[in-house]
Amino acid sequence: MTTVPTVTLNNGVSIPQLGFGVFQVPADETQRAVETALQAGYRHIDTAAAYRNEAGVGAAIAAAGLPREELFITTKLRNGEQATAAEAFEASRQALGLEVIDLYLIHWPVPSQDKYIDAWKALEKIYADGGARAIGVSNFLPEHLERLLAATDVLPTVNQIEVHPTFQQRELAAATRDAGIAVEAYSPLGQGADLTDPAVLAIAQAHDATPAQVVLAWHLAAGTIVIPKSVDPQRIAQNLAAVDVRLTDAEIESLNGLEAGARTGADPATAAFTQM
Ligand code: A2P
Repeated sequence: MTTVPTVTLNNGVSIPQLGFGVFQVPADETQRAVETALQAGYRHIDTAAAYRNEAGVGAAIAAAGLPREELFITTKLRNGEQATAAEAFEASRQALGLEVIDLYLIHWPVPSQDKYIDAWKALEKIYADGGARAIGVSNFLPEHLERLLAATDVLPTVNQIEVHPTFQQRELAAATRDAGIAVEAYSPLGQGADLTDPAVLAIAQAHDATPAQVVLAWHLAAGTIVIPKSVDPQRIAQNLAAVDVRLTDAEIESLNGLEAGARTGADPATAAFTQM
């Protein structure tokens, strides 16, 4: 079976560097997709209350019957529940059927509602009580990190942000790492859009690998945690095998050159969807 490297977070907890993301997996397909991923060898699953598919993740975990300590499960606090994080956390725990969540994240800062500091204090309590083995943030820009670090006690373990070859967010990733926080990439394949780039295709051909494996290998070489999504069993397995693809420095440079400002998601400075 494929051996996935781990990253040690700043609180000593280990996270598998490649996980399975279920953003945009429909609720009624989630159990099957996650079961497929677990059978293929993934042990890290990334969901969120806002994805409305935590119950499917929980059903797959229960059906797989794997030892709990082999799994690493992340979920996220919905934007509209930042003022009631303790209750939201309980609902996620119930939906997932888990006593302990491995990593619990604030999904978006939503600066316009100005609640993320209080939400973080609630996450600190969840962490202190043992409900989550690690806590972190997602979509935090340097100004949000700075404010959080100045106003609270526990350093976030990760900042999950959009990163892929055509949208690399180098300054944000550097600011995150400089603060001692691991970078986790969502939409690591650019939601599929980066897979047809001629540079990616050429490197894939040279390695007899798929374009997705090349892009994932680029993330892994940078030390980034990645959570590719797929509902296709063959792609689910192929994406995991990216851990065995080693790129040359020249190939990494070539992929570094693909930056194009091609954001696929929302801008965290202005994103304010509180229904999420
Ligand atoms: P599908 O679910 O039909 O496989 P991201 O993780 O960046 O959000 O990208 C997910 C998108 O990329 C989905 O549309 C997914 O489609 C597609 N995708 C995932 N893995 C592969 C792959 N190995 N080859 C081609 N497309 C892929």
